[in-house]
Amino acid sequence: MLVSVSVLSAYDNLLSAINKVNSSSADYLHIDVMDGVFVNNTKFPIDIVKKISAISKKPLDVHLMVNDIKTVLEYASLKPDYLTFHVEIINDNKLIKFIKSLGIKVGLAINPETNINKLKPYLNDIDLVLFMSVTPGQGGQAFKENTLNKIKRLKKVLPDNVIISIDGGINNETIDKCKNVGCNMVVSGSFITNNDNYNESIEKLR
Ligand code: DX5
Ligand code: ZN
Repeated sequence: MLVSVSVLSAYDNLLSAINKVNSSSADYLHIDVMDGVFVNNTKFPIDIVKKISAISKKPLDVHLMVNDIKTVLEYASLKPDYLTFHVEIINDNKLIKFIKSLGIKVGLAINPETNINKLKPYLNDIDLVLFMSVTPGQGGQAFKENTLNKIKRLKKVLPDNVIISIDGGINNETIDKCKNVGCNMVVSGSFITNNDNYNESIEKLR
């Protein structure tokens, strides 16, 4: 299981959190960009992410909770390993194709209340689907079980090379459910960053 660590809940102590991720076994550093419009919160402006990119030893997994395509292009200029934006903000595959042409892997995130049919036109163009198992906007929320049914249904039509990632409320109690429906990556925040020993939590998710 690939583990991407979200440092959202450690926003007040970012430097220390990033250093702990650096020296952990994490596969990716997950950055939750929020524009105050798509979600009711503002986090990780581009200048901060630039600095993070300079000090992170882990590949960046940038999750954009933003409405504006221009914002997506701005963060693409940082060349993260994965750039994930929400399926709710697109109507065609132009943005996906453009980001891919920059050599960046593209993820599409889907909110708990959005129908998986919205993803179907894009399944051959993307590298990852990010299933939100909480309403995006903040860390530390309870896992929404219904997400598991959506994953099961999408998996039937999803090309095998597309990574299935899940984000929100992932911990030692919810991880097995994610494994059972075929997730290959999990994003976990507070379960990891609330424990001084990041590796101890990460290993419970493997
Ligand atoms: C929610 C974010 C998540 C969040 C995960 O909007 O996308 O990445 O930080 O945090 P936990 O694991 O605490 O739910
Ligand atoms: Zn996220």
